[in-house]
Amino acid sequence: MKINDVSYRSVWVDPEDGWSVRIFDQTRLPWALDILRLTHCDQVAHAIRTMQVRGAPLIGAVAAYGLALALRVDASDAAMERDAAMLAATRPTAVNLGWAIGRMLTRLRPLAPADRVAAAYDEAGRICDEDVIQNEAIGRLGLELIEEIRAQRGDAAGPINILTHCNAGWIATVDWGTALAPIYMAHDRGIDVHVWVDETRPRNQGASLTAWELGSHGVPHTVIADNAGGHLMQHGRVDLVIVGTDRVTRTGDVANKIGTYLKALAAADNGVPFWVALPSTTIDWSISDGVREIPIEERASAEVTHISGLTGAGQVETVQLTPKGSHAANPAFDVTPARLVTGLITERGRCSATADGLCDLFPEYV
Ligand code: MRU
Repeated sequence: MKINDVSYRSVWVDPEDGWSVRIFDQTRLPWALDILRLTHCDQVAHAIRTMQVRGAPLIGAVAAYGLALALRVDASDAAMERDAAMLAATRPTAVNLGWAIGRMLTRLRPLAPADRVAAAYDEAGRICDEDVIQNEAIGRLGLELIEEIRAQRGDAAGPINILTHCNAGWIATVDWGTALAPIYMAHDRGIDVHVWVDETRPRNQGASLTAWELGSHGVPHTVIADNAGGHLMQHGRVDLVIVGTDRVTRTGDVANKIGTYLKALAAADNGVPFWVALPSTTIDWSISDGVREIPIEERASAEVTHISGLTGAGQVETVQLTPKGSHAANPAFDVTPARLVTGLITERGRCSATADGLCDLFPEYV
């Protein structure tokens, strides 16, 4: 995507030295566009844990480069397995992380240590390129869905109002995004779209990242408090919900940012289509009961009790919202049962959120 007319991906190898890894510090957005240089796998692990990088596909891609950095220091079998396990454990819910590390090890294990660094950079680069191709395909296929909704309601009804939760845009992937890819394509085609952006407490990925992305691309949008979506749906002001996901079971249950489930319930109650956009790297073919089997990350309570923002003087400041002594819990994701999901948009096509729907598109996993 372009920022100030310069094209970026969300992770890249520094062209100057050919080995260090560059990312945007997403904890500084939307207030500052800081680019970080990662030179050691511990820095990569820190960036993932602290959410300097976040979003399921992106953390997989960055972790892949993290393993390449680790191998520069020690490419022995023991070190590689240790560092891979450390990177894979940085966040528990998004399956793309374990998938990317697993794919790296499959390529690297048979090689002699001396050949591993070059192969690791090559494989991480492939993971990134494939993510871009998959997300672009999701964008095209999701655009068809938006065009169908436009044809049903006609242009006279005003903009197509799409609600999204959290950030599943280009900054959450290597490029394009998942939930936002169809929206970018619709906007670029001249379709009148407007996005309701859930602020997405407690870390505010919607208010900070999605609003920043959409604003940078000129897509009309309105940030809403997380609890506003149901009300807007009741009043016919949401035509479609599209969200991303961190893990989808083989039966179509969807883990995504906390609060997604409540949006799906409200959408079902109001007959609003609820679609989930994902690359196949987000499908966990090994599990079928999302509520019981998907590990839900519990993050620090300070993310709930405190909030950060920009002061009038341009400083980022963190303030406490809650009384001192009040306890806070912070489950970072929830699971939307497949029965509440209208359908899935994958790089191979749209399907129902069912085992049959997914198996028709991905028969090699049956
Ligand atoms: O905690 P985060 O910000 O990493 O959570 C991100 C999400 O929940 C996204 O919706 C999901 O990863 C899809 S990103 C294309």
